[in-house]
Amino acid sequence: MNTRMTGRLIGAAGAAALGVVAGLSFGRARKAVAKASMALNGDWEHQMKAEHRALKKLLKDMADSGIEEAARRAALLEQTAEALSRHTLEEENIIYPALRSCGMTSAVKAQLDDHADMRAMLRDLEETAPEDPAWTEAAKRLKALVYRHARQEEQELFPMLHDGALGGDNARLTQLVRREGLRIS
Ligand SMILES: [Fe+2]
Ligand SMILES: [Fe+2]
Repeated sequence: MNTRMTGRLIGAAGAAALGVVAGLSFGRARKAVAKASMALNGDWEHQMKAEHRALKKLLKDMADSGIEEAARRAALLEQTAEALSRHTLEEENIIYPALRSCGMTSAVKAQLDDHADMRAMLRDLEETAPEDPAWTEAAKRLKALVYRHARQEEQELFPMLHDGALGGDNARLTQLVRREGLRIS
């Protein structure tokens, strides 16, 4: 086999390999991004706050979007639903049980009620046409709830867990949040 032919075959094999990587990569890439993000941010509280910032940006974009932007609204809603689902599951499966073990039972109950309201609002949005002005009002209500809820977590609940009663368990919590994030990716 001459050098040119070998080169062409290697090129074809390389392209096929790239195709396979591209075909397989979506789920793995998302996990890799989640892992890299956690590795960069390190700590569970930092990660939760970063997820809040991303969610608030999506919700602001939703609330500020216009009725003529139906396709963008649908895309934003899909991203928001995915980000909110991931974040609330991390909290419900890891962070809230840790808060409960510190005696924060009623505070956790209130947060869970908020999560249920968020899911109901998302369902309303999914059932409302993006061209309907009611979509804008629903997006603004969800935005206000998430902003208020996240503020309470960041200003009251997370610091209590991070700096208070469970101070020594931050490394363990970070590990559990990372594992949960990868499991639900
Ligand atoms: Fe929450
Ligand atoms: Fe949160």
